[in-house]
Amino acid sequence: MAVELLNWSTNLLRDHGIENPRLQAELLLAHSLNLSREGLYGRLHSQIEQREMERFEELIRRRISGVPLQYILGHQEFWSIDLKVDPRVLIPRPETEVLVEQALEVLSEAISWTTAFVLEIGTGSGAVAISLAKEVKDIFLVATDISEEALRVARENARSSGVLHQIGFVNGNLFEPFNLFRNRKPFDLILSNPPYIATSEIGELAREVKDHEPTIALNGGEDGLAFYRAIIAQAPLYLKRGGWLLLEVGQGQAEKVSGLMEKEGDFLAAQSVRDLLGIERVVKAQRR
Ligand SMILES: C[S@@+](CC[C@H](N)C(=O)[O-])C[C@H]1O[C@@H](n2cnc3c(N)ncnc32)[C@H](O)[C@@H]1O
Repeated sequence: MAVELLNWSTNLLRDHGIENPRLQAELLLAHSLNLSREGLYGRLHSQIEQREMERFEELIRRRISGVPLQYILGHQEFWSIDLKVDPRVLIPRPETEVLVEQALEVLSEAISWTTAFVLEIGTGSGAVAISLAKEVKDIFLVATDISEEALRVARENARSSGVLHQIGFVNGNLFEPFNLFRNRKPFDLILSNPPYIATSEIGELAREVKDHEPTIALNGGEDGLAFYRAIIAQAPLYLKRGGWLLLEVGQGQAEKVSGLMEKEGDFLAAQSVRDLLGIERVVKAQRR
């Protein structure tokens, strides 16, 4: 019976140190039976076919080996949008919603008669760009990534979310694809959640992250700040006067990133914004 399978797998996940073992067992069992979690409750006392059981055991085996739950299920919710995720992209984190909130605030305050023109660097699954496109009708975004594979996932997510017409996806390294627009300052807003883990700290991350999520989405160079330095140095060449730069930062990086913005000289005072856990998560500054 399904309920027995659920109890067995919950214990197994717990014994292997997996957090929230009951919830994860339910989600994996529902997935192998092609049911919603609610649908699973209606079948708890039904028999499970051999084929379904084998499928479930395989999912449990993968989870125990460290594959993140979201890669096994194939999706992750972000900003109430169901996004496809797989090992080609970083799994979007809830704290990145602070970046979306701040972007919406900046865009709502900007008085403009034209369509807002926004650049997101390092879009991954497309989570941030897609959320903004869904919230703001009069917006066009350019979303970049150095990983062509990640962009394929992002495009698919934009299509299934109905916002593909509002986002241009561009493959390239930071501002390189926009060299032609250097100094023309086309963007109202530039935002990014760049890789920010110091190279030496990657080995200390949870195995779900270090062994399964793309290293290119994590590695922020020797001190974790390489992308902030590069983005902050170049952003003024591409930002309109009065435009905003918004950067997600890792725990403990806000002060250094604010310092980099202020040292750059082209920005007004930098501000940092905390996430729900009270961690400074986004640093933002307006171009003079
Ligand atoms: C921390 S992930 C953020 C993904 C997504 N924006 C999110 O918040 O879930 C950083 C992203 O930057 C991309 N990236 C890494 N180096 C880059 C570079 N030099 N230029 C553009 N994108 C880069 C990675 O492929 C990855 O998708």
